[in-house]
Amino acid sequence: MPSAAILEVRGLTKRFGGLTAVSSLGFEVREGEILGMIGPNGAGKSTTFNLIAGTYAATQGEVRFAGEQILGLPPHRIAARGVMRTFQHNRPITFWSGRIRDLLPVSGRWWEEEPCARRRKGESAPQS
Ligand SMILES: Nc1ncnc2c1ncn2[C@@H]1O[C@H](COP(=O)(O)OP(=O)(O)OP(=O)(O)O)[C@@H](O)[C@H]1O
Ligand SMILES: [Mg+2]
Repeated sequence: MPSAAILEVRGLTKRFGGLTAVSSLGFEVREGEILGMIGPNGAGKSTTFNLIAGTYAATQGEVRFAGEQILGLPPHRIAARGVMRTFQHNRPITFWSGRIRDLLPVSGRWWEEEPCARRRKGESAPQS
């Protein structure tokens, strides 16, 4: 007998002004199931993950994890329930093999030195 869905997404919609990035999306993930999401650039994949993880506020819809509504909770509360997203930017940790407490200063340094931080501080990008 299939297990109950642990993640349920219903009618999930996100509009950025006049652009509808995610339109009435619905799907379920059962415990232990691996579900892939495919689509062309701009299809709304990252926006969907950001909505589920709480990084973006949804325009409309429902997201339930283990039966409880998580849409509208801040990201740290959603993470505390066991839901979070990972990022495509894996370069800063490719050289790391150690303890998590050693990684924190490394990530802090990367955050300080990444191009946006330099722009924020009015510095020019390093010449390569
Ligand atoms: N913060 C934002 N503000 C305005 N528009 C956004 C924002 N984030 C995403 N969009 C727009 O929403 C649409 C969906 O973008 P999204 O990044 O979710 O697509 P994607 O499927 O992850 O694409 P890719 O395969 O390139 O990663 C795009 O038209 C994008 O320009
Ligand atoms: Mg994306």
